[in-house]
Order: sequence, then structure tokens, then C-alpha cells
Amino acid sequence: MSGAQTPEFQLLEQSVGYFYSAALRAAALLNIADHLAGSAKKPDELAESAGVHGPYLHRLLRFLATRDVFAEDDAGRFHLTPSAELLRTDAPRSMRSAVLMLTDQVFWKPAELLDETVRAGATRFEEVFPAPFFDWLAQDEQAGDAFHFGMAAMSDSENRRIAADYDFSGCSKLVDVGGGQGGFLVEVLRKSPDLHGVLFDEEHVLAQHRLGEVRHSGGCEAVIGDFFSAVPPGADAYVLKRILHDWDDEESTRILARCREAMDPDARVLVIDAVIPAGNEPHPGKALDMLLMTSLSGKERTKAEFEAVFAGAGLSVTRVIPTSTPLSIVEGERESG
Ligand SMILES: C[S@@+](CC[C@H](N)C(=O)[O-])C[C@H]1O[C@@H](n2cnc3c(N)ncnc32)[C@H](O)[C@@H]1O
Repeated sequence: MSGAQTPEFQLLEQSVGYFYSAALRAAALLNIADHLAGSAKKPDELAESAGVHGPYLHRLLRFLATRDVFAEDDAGRFHLTPSAELLRTDAPRSMRSAVLMLTDQVFWKPAELLDETVRAGATRFEEVFPAPFFDWLAQDEQAGDAFHFGMAAMSDSENRRIAADYDFSGCSKLVDVGGGQGGFLVEVLRKSPDLHGVLFDEEHVLAQHRLGEVRHSGGCEAVIGDFFSAVPPGADAYVLKRILHDWDDEESTRILARCREAMDPDARVLVIDAVIPAGNEPHPGKALDMLLMTSLSGKERTKAEFEAVFAGAGLSVTRVIPTSTPLSIVEGERESG
């Protein structure tokens, strides 16, 4: 066994793992990828154009290069790698705002309280911020924008593939419950132009909706509301993408119950979330689950856990459809009787 593979080394390396997040955030905030677009640069030249300290920047990039974010060549010039390319502000499908969202203080600060969170079995978010997570995003414009634009960028990396993996042909009206800025709905409408789309979310989120990105015959509308009170009735499909994982079982059951009340007898509910498999293998949902635990009341669920919350709302799971992303589509219908 080489030194690099010992349990001791493994623990020490993981103990400083938070610096990968910090370094990625620093590179995104300093717009380093923008300054490298078009030509590789030596650290001093790059530092001058970015307005930062050359030797410190070199150390930051040398560290990130160990994870294939930027690469240094034999002449000491730094290049964009495929993942560094996505940190460019104007890259097609830029992930810069997603990186800034996931490393934002709304997640970073409560992560420091993970031990207390596990002890209490509840988020400590309100020890750090003056209101629960989504209330705080509505109150603080900067926090709200960082989250919702970052969420939209993160979702853009998966929306088209998920929309491609489900047959919407039998659907004439779809409500995207908590649909954010509308990236997923836009992809569904591109694929099914006759569908009427309803984007349902909070007012401050819908103020920045992107439904204008798609031209199609079925029409679409943005409807302001609270999914704990009521959701728009009469659709064939109710999509909840990355929604239930934000909420505990009791809250998730209430959201699903509001959907059930709005659903016609033949309508379907499509919960799009990670479905956590058994075993020790890494899964992106297992990392995000830590964030859902520390900043929200939510959790990533197993198939059996989804079946339980569906049943609590008078729904049954009909199929779990894997997609070409880490998310699955948990399809449900009204339980008969
Ligand atoms: C994690 S984001 C997911 C957004 C989108 N579905 C996606 O996949 O990108 C959760 C969404 O739920 C919305 N939301 C939170 N509480 C809500 C409520 N009570 N009523 C309606 N929407 C709500 C948020 O504004 C946000 O857009």
C-alpha cells in the first residue's frame, strides 16, 4: 500500500476537502476563467488582468488543477479544461452561478453546524439567518438571486435530458409546481409544442421567469402561489422537480395532497428527484442530502420513502423511471377509492 492510499492519508485529505469548495468559489468570484478565455496565460500575466496577487493565484490554480479544473502546461501557462470552461460567465450552459449558489453562505454557514444538526435532528439554519430558508430568499434580494439564478443554471445541465426521457405525448396541460424560472418547462414545451404549460412558483421567482425562451402553439402562463395552500387545477401532469427533497415527510405529504386535490382522476404526478440506491457507492444525491439536512428540513429519499409520502397523500407510485442524469422520475396516480 503506497502512502497515498493509507487510511491516515485518506482521512487527512478528506479533512481539508472543504478547500476544494472554497477554491472553486474563489476562482468563480475572481472570474479567472473569463480572463483565460481564448489564450493560456502565466500566473503573473493572468493576475494582472484579473487584478489579483500573482503567486497566490498560482497556488490557487495549482490546487484546482489537481481536480482537472484548469491545467498548467510545461511552460507554466494555465489553460481552461472542460470544467474550467464552464466557469466562464458567457459559456453556453455556464455553471458559474451554480457553483456560487452551492458554495453560498446559505449552505456554507449552516454546514459548520452539522454536528449540532445531527444531534438535534433538525436544521440550525435559523441560528445563522433570521428566517427559514425559502422565507429568507424572499426577504433578501441578494440571497434570493444567488439561489434562483444558480438553481436555474444547475437545472439547465439536466432539464433537456430529463424532458427527453419521459413521454409527454398524452398530456395536454402540465403544471410545473415550484418550477423556478421555468427552465424545465421550456424544455418540455420545446419537445411537445401543443402542450399548455403552467409555471407555478412564488412571486419574486416568477418575476424572473424564462417562458419567453420558447415559441410554441399550446401557450403558457406563470401563476403565483403557495404549494402548501393550492396548486392550479385541471392538468394532466403535475411536475415537482427538486421540490420534495427540500421538505420533510409531513411537509412533502401536504404538498402532494394539494396536487392530489387539483388532479383529475387520470392525471399523473411526476416527482423528479434523486432516488437513493442501497449500498455504499457514491451518488450525487448523498452529498446534496447533507445540504438539505443542514439548511432545510428536507432529505433525499429511497424508493420506499417516496412510496410512503405518496401513500400519505392518497397517491400511489406507478413507476420509477431512471433518466440519463442523477435524477429519476417517480410517477404517481390517485389511489382508487
Ligand atoms: C430547489 S428549487 C427547484 C426549482 C425547479 N423545480 C428546478 O428544478 O430547478 C425549489 C423551488 O420551490 C419554490 N418554492 C419554495 N416554497 C414554495 C411555496 N411555498 N410555494 C411555491 N413554490 C415554492 C422555490 O421558489 C424554488 O423555485
